[in-house]
Amino acid sequence: MPTTSDYAVLTRVGPGTPMGRLMREYWIPACLSSELKADGPPLRLMLLGEKLLAIRDSAGRVGVFDHRCPHRGASLFFGRNEENGLRCVYHGWKFDVEGNCLDMPNVKPRHAFPHRIKAKTYKTVERAGVVWAYMGERAEAPPFPALEPLLLPDAQVTSRWAQRHCNWLQALEGDIDTSHFGFLHEGKARAEDYPADSVLHYRLMDRAPDYHCSDTGWGTMYAAYRPADPGNLYYRVAHYLFPFWTMIPNTSFAGNISMRGWVPIDDTHTMFLQFFWQDPAASQPLRGPQVPGLSINFDYLPNTSDWHGRWRLRQNEQNDYGLDRDRQRDLTFSGIEGVHLQDQAVTESMGEIIDHGIEHLTIGDLMITRTRQRMLQAMRALEEKGASPPGATQADIFLGARGGDFVAPDSRTWLEAYADQIRGSANPSGALRVPALAAE
Ligand code: FES
Ligand SMILES: [Fe+2]
Repeated sequence: MPTTSDYAVLTRVGPGTPMGRLMREYWIPACLSSELKADGPPLRLMLLGEKLLAIRDSAGRVGVFDHRCPHRGASLFFGRNEENGLRCVYHGWKFDVEGNCLDMPNVKPRHAFPHRIKAKTYKTVERAGVVWAYMGERAEAPPFPALEPLLLPDAQVTSRWAQRHCNWLQALEGDIDTSHFGFLHEGKARAEDYPADSVLHYRLMDRAPDYHCSDTGWGTMYAAYRPADPGNLYYRVAHYLFPFWTMIPNTSFAGNISMRGWVPIDDTHTMFLQFFWQDPAASQPLRGPQVPGLSINFDYLPNTSDWHGRWRLRQNEQNDYGLDRDRQRDLTFSGIEGVHLQDQAVTESMGEIIDHGIEHLTIGDLMITRTRQRMLQAMRALEEKGASPPGATQADIFLGARGGDFVAPDSRTWLEAYADQIRGSANPSGALRVPALAAE
């Protein structure tokens, strides 16, 4: 069994750490493409504990730099982004988006050696309206992951961002912890207010579901299940996908092309981002009253140029997330408004990095336990044998993954029911396929 200190290793992602090394095997989402304007100011960006800058040059190319100038370490944040390069304001050295030194104007040409100087930069690509960086050591960047929402035309995919003040792992684990839904988010809702053949009714009738859980090529998956109408089961399926993605049952499986990322800014701050397919036909009409407190509210503080200044929410730990005790008594379980904020409050309340030693895990935490073990195995295989972690080089391994809820005959196994759902679902990218999966 993994120990508490094994789990602690999973939470550290800075340069040279085992988990940091694993994450650097993948493309990392860095910022929105729209955050970078040609010749605009450098954007302070922290990723995996590294202080970086992003710019878009005059020709529209994106550069992600170590923020320190390779001359004497002044921050290039203060630099001038102009004429296809970033010029340090200290002594005027200038770099292109690949880090090549173009100019060394504070010394006479006979003393200058720009061809021998390189600013540290990372390779970038832009996909789905987002700038991605490859921060690893391979000469060739890995293939871009074939994650379903990223295979659609950019115009059909939207992303939403929000910073969270805690470690990436405890934030991610909220997505694969299904039993909290019936309490934190829906604890005051009553089954009898919803039609007896609706998924909400099934969910509220049984708040302690049973579970299947399995390793997959891309990570792990679970199905939480409980009775539906006679002869059927109601399933909620979610995935963990390496290194920090989830696909959750936020709506019905058939049209739920979405995924969520928990990108470490550093060990104690995480950038949440969600990609989702904008298909109006995919949303299910609600049968019965709206569950109070479940609004989707992303009310941001103004972004600042601080390392932790982007996509912060107005309701936060300083104001108890807008907790309203009257509403908690009368209307909602938590008294906090909005699914995302409710999750934010509980995961941040664990502290910046949870002390795993105080946990008491149950069957309801099966997916969390299994996912930690899967991460540890991949981390050790990389450390000890140099084994490429899941999906890092085999980009299409992700194509069998989608999250969602559905009702299926109890005569089918959970994996058969999952395969049936994939065959019968919208597949606008044409790439989703039935994966080869082994039962738990
Ligand atoms: S420190 Fe940047 S040019 Fe000298
Ligand atoms: Fe939640």
